[in-house]
Amino acid sequence: MRVVGIVKLGQFVFLLSTEETMATERPNRVWNRKHILGLEELSAEEITQILDQAAEFKQQAKEGVLKLNSLRGKVVANLFFEPSTRTRTSFGLAAKRLSADTVDFSPSGSSLSKGETFIDTAKNIEAMGVDQVVVRHATPGAPHLLSKHLQASVLNAGDGTHEHPTQALLDIFTIREQKGTLEGLTVTLVGDILHSRVARSNIWGLKKLGARVIVCGPSTLIPRDITQLGVEISYDLDAVLPETDCVNLLRVQFERQRSAFFPSIREYAHLFGLNTERASRGKEGMVVLAPGPINRGVELSTEVADGPHSVVLDQVTNGLLVRMSCLYLLNQYQDRQAERGDS
Ligand code: CP
Repeated sequence: MRVVGIVKLGQFVFLLSTEETMATERPNRVWNRKHILGLEELSAEEITQILDQAAEFKQQAKEGVLKLNSLRGKVVANLFFEPSTRTRTSFGLAAKRLSADTVDFSPSGSSLSKGETFIDTAKNIEAMGVDQVVVRHATPGAPHLLSKHLQASVLNAGDGTHEHPTQALLDIFTIREQKGTLEGLTVTLVGDILHSRVARSNIWGLKKLGARVIVCGPSTLIPRDITQLGVEISYDLDAVLPETDCVNLLRVQFERQRSAFFPSIREYAHLFGLNTERASRGKEGMVVLAPGPINRGVELSTEVADGPHSVVLDQVTNGLLVRMSCLYLLNQYQDRQAERGDS
């Protein structure tokens, strides 16, 4: 226990530990969801609860508390049907930091090649006693489908072009850390909005927390009806940078593009790539984010990616904390249901 305060009440003196101080500072919030499938369905309060819990984990890590017992005896399965570096690794580490056992599934070498279905594969892995399933799949809605077939909690780690909720949560956490608040900030999402699950989740989350969102890119990569989500459209990055507090440079998703959406990579980089010269025309203190993986020299130059305004690696660090937070809150929900005797 780390003593961080002393309170005198009459003849009594109370020592406050970190945990007790946090308990008095935070409202007593209860997590009421079994799954985390997207930011579309989460309220501003729920998003804030995930961010605040992640911030608490970050504070504890700074104080040297890296490992917690919260998920001891529980099993988290990582089912990744699409490639991943950041999301897969950080969900795995997040589960271990909370003392869960982990199961890692990849389609290559699995019985999918013998004709086993997606649902049967997941149900068989769940039958080994899995409590939470983290799933990435190329088909939009795949995690939602699993949530209807499994008893376990399901976390969406990216479903096709639909949503990538934990990426948006870590982006928003990083912005909040840098700027103190989301309220009133202008956040510009640049690039392949059409194919980007990161853009869609960011838009839901940022708008709910009070940010102004601009989407910017080639007209072929911005769906016109995106304005229905409350965002503004720009085709001119230089015009919007002077009013942008945070710029998030989305990856050009060559693997999801079935036709040429712009004449050449060189032209894309010329018009929408962030280099040092273009960044210097941005608003003072503009923060540069990128979900990764980065196509260096396309969405942003190496100088900007590794430069002083870039928080690209902070995003990765924060991703671990945000994913710990999601696993922790879903586990709280499950424990409460178990206490009540509900499944
Ligand atoms: N940003 C992101 O989802 O990265 P990975 O594909 O490496 O998980």
